[in-house]
Amino acid sequence: MAKLPILTAPDPRLKRKSAPVERVDDEVRWLMDDMLETMYAAPGIGLAAPQVGVLKRVIVLDIEREGTSTGPIRMANPEIVDVSDEDATSEEGCLSVPEHYSDVERPARVTVRYLDRDGESRDLACEGLLAKCVQHEIDHLDGVLFIDRISALKRNIILRKLVKARKEKEREAAEDDAAAAPRSRRKV
Ligand code: NI
Repeated sequence: MAKLPILTAPDPRLKRKSAPVERVDDEVRWLMDDMLETMYAAPGIGLAAPQVGVLKRVIVLDIEREGTSTGPIRMANPEIVDVSDEDATSEEGCLSVPEHYSDVERPARVTVRYLDRDGESRDLACEGLLAKCVQHEIDHLDGVLFIDRISALKRNIILRKLVKARKEKEREAAEDDAAAAPRSRRKV
Protein backbone atom coordinates (compact mmCIF):
# COMPACT_ATOMS: atom_id res chain seq x y z
CA MET A 1 0.00 0.00 0.00
CA ALA A 2 1.10 3.57 -0.57
CA LYS A 3 0.11 6.89 0.89
CA LEU A 4 -1.00 9.33 -1.80
CA PRO A 5 -0.88 13.16 -1.85
CA ILE A 6 -4.28 14.79 -1.17
CA LEU A 7 -5.39 17.63 -3.47
CA THR A 8 -6.78 20.76 -1.83
CA ALA A 9 -9.30 23.32 -3.09
CA PRO A 10 -9.34 25.20 -5.40
CA ASP A 11 -7.60 22.48 -7.45
CA PRO A 12 -9.63 22.14 -10.70
CA ARG A 13 -9.46 18.32 -10.53
CA LEU A 14 -11.74 18.46 -7.47
CA LYS A 15 -14.44 20.07 -9.62
CA ARG A 16 -14.59 17.35 -12.27
CA LYS A 17 -17.03 14.46 -12.57
CA SER A 18 -15.50 11.02 -12.05
CA ALA A 19 -16.11 8.05 -14.35
CA PRO A 20 -17.65 4.76 -13.19
CA VAL A 21 -15.27 1.80 -12.88
CA GLU A 22 -16.05 -0.92 -15.42
CA ARG A 23 -15.29 -3.68 -12.96
CA VAL A 24 -13.60 -4.06 -9.61
CA ASP A 25 -10.25 -5.55 -10.63
CA ASP A 26 -6.87 -5.59 -8.88
CA GLU A 27 -6.12 -2.04 -10.00
CA VAL A 28 -9.30 -0.76 -8.34
CA ARG A 29 -8.61 -2.84 -5.19
CA TRP A 30 -5.07 -1.37 -4.98
CA LEU A 31 -6.54 2.11 -5.35
CA MET A 32 -9.02 1.37 -2.54
CA ASP A 33 -6.22 0.12 -0.26
CA ASP A 34 -3.98 3.11 -1.04
CA MET A 35 -6.91 5.43 -0.35
CA LEU A 36 -7.58 3.78 3.01
CA GLU A 37 -3.92 4.14 4.00
CA THR A 38 -3.98 7.80 2.91
CA MET A 39 -7.23 8.40 4.83
CA TYR A 40 -5.97 6.80 8.06
CA ALA A 41 -2.69 8.74 7.86
CA ALA A 42 -4.42 12.10 7.28
CA PRO A 43 -6.34 11.26 9.58
CA GLY A 44 -9.84 11.26 8.10
CA ILE A 45 -13.02 9.15 8.17
CA GLY A 46 -13.76 9.22 4.42
CA LEU A 47 -11.91 9.78 1.15
CA ALA A 48 -12.95 9.90 -2.51
CA ALA A 49 -10.65 9.00 -5.43
CA PRO A 50 -10.66 12.49 -7.03
CA GLN A 51 -9.10 13.81 -3.79
CA VAL A 52 -5.98 11.84 -4.73
CA GLY A 53 -6.24 12.92 -8.39
CA VAL A 54 -7.93 9.74 -9.68
CA LEU A 55 -11.19 10.55 -11.48
CA LYS A 56 -12.89 7.20 -10.79
CA ARG A 57 -16.06 6.57 -8.80
CA VAL A 58 -14.39 5.00 -5.79
CA ILE A 59 -14.76 6.00 -2.11
CA VAL A 60 -13.55 4.61 1.20
CA LEU A 61 -14.89 5.20 4.71
CA ASP A 62 -14.18 4.13 8.25
CA ILE A 63 -16.03 5.83 11.05
CA GLU A 64 -15.02 3.33 13.72
CA ARG A 65 -13.04 5.94 15.53
CA GLU A 66 -16.18 8.03 16.04
CA GLY A 67 -17.77 5.51 18.40
CA THR A 68 -19.74 3.50 15.84
CA SER A 69 -18.00 0.53 14.33
CA THR A 70 -18.13 0.30 10.55
CA GLY A 71 -14.55 -0.84 9.96
CA PRO A 72 -13.01 -0.06 6.56
CA ILE A 73 -15.67 0.27 3.82
CA ARG A 74 -14.66 0.22 0.12
CA MET A 75 -17.21 1.30 -2.48
CA ALA A 76 -17.06 1.43 -6.27
CA ASN A 77 -19.78 3.22 -8.26
CA PRO A 78 -21.77 4.20 -5.13
CA GLU A 79 -25.19 5.70 -5.75
CA ILE A 80 -27.91 6.91 -3.46
CA VAL A 81 -31.03 4.83 -4.17
CA ASP A 82 -33.23 6.06 -1.31
CA VAL A 83 -33.33 9.17 0.88
CA SER A 84 -35.33 10.07 3.97
CA ASP A 85 -37.79 12.96 3.93
CA GLU A 86 -36.18 14.18 7.11
CA ASP A 87 -33.03 16.31 6.84
CA ALA A 88 -30.20 16.71 9.31
CA THR A 89 -27.81 19.62 9.69
CA SER A 90 -24.33 19.03 11.06
CA GLU A 91 -20.83 20.34 10.79
CA GLU A 92 -18.64 19.05 7.95
CA GLY A 93 -14.97 19.27 7.17
CA CYS A 94 -12.91 17.84 4.32
CA LEU A 95 -9.31 16.77 3.81
CA SER A 96 -9.37 18.85 0.61
CA VAL A 97 -10.58 21.95 2.49
CA PRO A 98 -8.12 21.80 5.38
CA GLU A 99 -8.93 23.55 8.65
CA HIS A 100 -12.36 24.83 7.59
CA TYR A 101 -15.73 23.58 8.86
CA SER A 102 -19.31 24.54 8.20
CA ASP A 103 -22.85 23.30 8.86
CA VAL A 104 -24.39 21.43 5.91
CA GLU A 105 -27.98 20.19 5.56
CA ARG A 106 -28.54 16.78 3.95
CA PRO A 107 -31.08 13.94 4.11
CA ALA A 108 -30.78 12.31 7.55
CA ARG A 109 -30.84 8.74 6.17
CA VAL A 110 -29.87 7.29 2.80
CA THR A 111 -29.51 3.88 1.21
CA VAL A 112 -26.42 3.53 -0.95
CA ARG A 113 -25.94 0.85 -3.64
CA TYR A 114 -22.34 0.03 -4.58
CA LEU A 115 -19.90 -2.65 -5.70
CA ASP A 116 -17.74 -4.05 -2.88
CA ARG A 117 -14.09 -5.09 -3.25
CA ASP A 118 -15.21 -8.41 -4.75
CA GLY A 119 -17.40 -6.63 -7.32
CA GLU A 120 -20.62 -7.75 -5.57
CA SER A 121 -23.53 -5.32 -5.58
CA ARG A 122 -24.63 -4.33 -2.08
CA ASP A 123 -27.15 -1.99 -0.49
CA LEU A 124 -26.25 -0.26 2.75
CA ALA A 125 -28.75 1.69 4.89
CA CYS A 126 -26.92 4.63 6.46
CA GLU A 127 -27.85 7.05 9.21
CA GLY A 128 -26.11 9.56 11.43
CA LEU A 129 -22.44 10.18 10.72
CA LEU A 130 -22.26 7.38 8.14
CA ALA A 131 -25.14 8.91 6.14
CA LYS A 132 -23.48 12.31 6.19
CA CYS A 133 -20.09 10.91 5.24
CA VAL A 134 -21.30 8.73 2.38
CA GLN A 135 -23.21 11.67 0.85
CA HIS A 136 -20.16 13.93 1.26
CA GLU A 137 -17.91 11.39 -0.50
CA ILE A 138 -20.36 10.75 -3.35
CA ASP A 139 -20.54 14.54 -3.85
CA HIS A 140 -16.76 14.46 -4.49
CA LEU A 141 -17.37 12.04 -7.39
CA ASP A 142 -19.59 14.70 -8.99
CA GLY A 143 -17.10 17.51 -8.42
CA VAL A 144 -19.04 18.92 -5.46
CA LEU A 145 -17.36 20.01 -2.21
CA PHE A 146 -19.18 20.74 1.04
CA ILE A 147 -18.36 24.41 0.53
CA ASP A 148 -20.55 24.29 -2.60
CA ARG A 149 -23.48 23.58 -0.26
CA ILE A 150 -23.01 26.66 1.92
CA SER A 151 -23.54 30.36 1.15
CA ALA A 152 -21.42 31.90 -1.60
CA LEU A 153 -20.18 34.46 0.91
CA LYS A 154 -18.84 31.81 3.31
CA ARG A 155 -17.47 29.74 0.41
CA ASN A 156 -15.52 32.67 -1.03
CA ILE A 157 -14.02 33.55 2.34
CA ILE A 158 -12.80 29.95 2.76
CA LEU A 159 -11.45 29.75 -0.81
CA ARG A 160 -9.57 33.04 -0.42
CA LYS A 161 -7.97 31.77 2.80
CA LEU A 162 -6.99 28.49 1.13
CA VAL A 163 -5.34 30.31 -1.80
CA LYS A 164 -3.49 32.58 0.61
CA ALA A 165 -2.30 29.63 2.72
CA ARG A 166 -1.09 27.79 -0.39
CA LYS A 167 0.83 30.85 -1.65
CA GLU A 168 2.53 31.20 1.72
CA LYS A 169 3.49 27.53 1.67
CA GLU A 170 4.89 27.84 -1.87
CA ARG A 171 6.89 30.92 -0.93
CA GLU A 172 8.38 29.18 2.10
CA ALA A 173 9.26 26.13 -0.02
CA ALA A 174 10.89 28.34 -2.68
CA GLU A 175 12.95 30.12 0.00
CA ASP A 176 14.05 26.74 1.42
CA ASP A 177 15.02 25.55 -2.08
CA ALA A 178 17.00 28.72 -2.80
CA ALA A 179 18.84 28.35 0.49
CA ALA A 180 19.58 24.69 -0.21
CA ALA A 181 20.62 25.04 -3.88
CA PRO A 182 24.34 24.82 -4.53
CA ARG A 183 25.77 28.18 -5.59
CA SER A 184 26.99 26.86 -8.96
CA ARG A 185 23.43 25.90 -9.99
CA ARG A 186 21.89 29.26 -9.21
CA LYS A 187 20.70 31.25 -12.19
CA VAL A 188 21.79 34.87 -12.47
NI1 NI B 1 -14.23 15.67 1.53
